[in-house]
Amino acid sequence: MSQKYEFSFPVKGDNFDDAGKASIQIKKRLKGLGITGDVLRRTAIAIYESEVNIISYARQGNINIRVTDDNISINIRDSGPGIADIKQAMQQGYSTANDRIRKMGFGAGMGLFNIKNCSDDFEILSKANKGTLLKILINR
Ligand SMILES: Nc1ncnc2c1ncn2[C@@H]1O[C@H](COP(=O)(O)OP(=O)(O)O)[C@@H](O)[C@H]1O
Ligand SMILES: [Mg+2]
Repeated sequence: MSQKYEFSFPVKGDNFDDAGKASIQIKKRLKGLGITGDVLRRTAIAIYESEVNIISYARQGNINIRVTDDNISINIRDSGPGIADIKQAMQQGYSTANDRIRKMGFGAGMGLFNIKNCSDDFEILSKANKGTLLKILINR
């Protein structure tokens, strides 16, 4: 019999103290569901980079994960400024991170590029001054 699991984690904008916490919780849950190796690694990277982006650029967001026998689908939705030029934002090294964010070691401009690299299917939807939705699919 095929099983489906779904869970969500909220992420607060600007809360750098907790950066990585949601990702770690989610990784534990995925391990508990028997996900390991390259699939776990790629999923964890994609979620971590998305979490840091919510904290860095948005007011608040939500990470939703759905696990089936076949795949892991992750929807990351935030309320925030949105991404005006998605093609530019996807470029390696492109970042609008301010000094404060860079001093904490973020803002290398590799996040979205890495998320896409880790995904088997990846889509960004964004509305100016509303927010951003990342749809990530990873096959098991
Ligand atoms: N959730 C988001 N909301 C608004 N802008 C975003 C979001 N995620 C990414 N961006 C924009 O895309 C750029 C590139 O993101 P990313 O590749 O993760 O690199 P970095 O976070 O290091 O800047 C960011 O600098 C920012 O301008
Ligand atoms: Mg980033």
